[in-house]
Amino acid sequence: MAAPPTPSPRFTQKVFGTLPDGQTAELYTLTNAHGMRVAITNFGGIVQSLQVPDRSGHLADVVLGYDTLAGYLGDTKTYFGALIGRYANRIAFGKFALGGRMYTLATNNGKNSLHGGNQGFNRRLWTARDASTATAAALELTYHSRDGEEGYPGNLQVDVVYTLTANNQLRIVYSASTDKPTVLNLTNHSYFNLSGEGSGDILGTELTLAARRYTPINAGLIPTGAVDAVAGTPLDFTTPHRIGDRIGAANQQLQYAQGYDFNYVLDSGGGALALAATAYDPKSGRELRVTTTQPGVQLYSGNFLDGTLHGKSGHVYARHAGFCLETQHFPDSPNHRNFPSTELDPGQHFTETTVLAFSAR
Ligand code: GLA
Repeated sequence: MAAPPTPSPRFTQKVFGTLPDGQTAELYTLTNAHGMRVAITNFGGIVQSLQVPDRSGHLADVVLGYDTLAGYLGDTKTYFGALIGRYANRIAFGKFALGGRMYTLATNNGKNSLHGGNQGFNRRLWTARDASTATAAALELTYHSRDGEEGYPGNLQVDVVYTLTANNQLRIVYSASTDKPTVLNLTNHSYFNLSGEGSGDILGTELTLAARRYTPINAGLIPTGAVDAVAGTPLDFTTPHRIGDRIGAANQQLQYAQGYDFNYVLDSGGGALALAATAYDPKSGRELRVTTTQPGVQLYSGNFLDGTLHGKSGHVYARHAGFCLETQHFPDSPNHRNFPSTELDPGQHFTETTVLAFSAR
């Protein structure tokens, strides 16, 4: 008997909503032959839903977010699922020097600049294109960030391709070029709950990080500039630990962050695709393996979620309702010469890749 035909990848599109300026945001859905499905809007490049099978093949949406565009428009704090730029995480006092000049950025996190400022890439409407092939559905998003936007120098052309592969991987490839020296740090800010969004907290998720070091922070969550070993601290995930096991330990770093909110220095050093993190949910059997070309990953345990947000299907997102693994360059690098450089110059081609690989056991 002939094998049943393998369903081919699918790319569909529908209207997601209208922005205050009248423009229309779309929602694109990529589906693979296993039924894994990701929905992404060109508003902020947000991964709006990610349907992944558990150990019995049952699909659940493993990312936090909203059903409607209005939900995302009304939330300026969480960055659920969004593409972050120009600079992921914090730049101290919104200031940095480059080429002998000081630049002042929009500050939106106390005195600091966070995730690109007031209108970061997460709040922009990107141009979308179906970039699917015969084997995988893909969405290409492009955005032109003008010279001076949020205080950053240079006209920056950014291109992000999301591909859903046949083997349940969501691949994210970032590219950029500039016409003036600038700084750049791009990431995706998905909050995962491998049991399904809205199903409770993520404290039971077993996490492993390929990082023996991290960049300690001060009380304002700004790197001190040191690069310290995690060995002997509750920040050590070089072997698997449940996220919740040591989150309340008496440790100054955990107290500053009110949980995990740290940049881990990946052992790979970045530059080539290497394993950054493995997260396993014993309840559903879902596992997420994150590989990246980036030198760092921000582990954030959803500390600022406080139960006031109502997400998809009216789910209340309380503290630790999701965790983030934001592959990135280190926070505040433009102010720390000992961190890997985030400078991008004219004529250079910026590229980084992160792969989110899902499986179940
Ligand atoms: C990142 C930061 C956190 C927080 C979240 C968004 O993970 O490190 O401190 O700002 O983004 O709420």
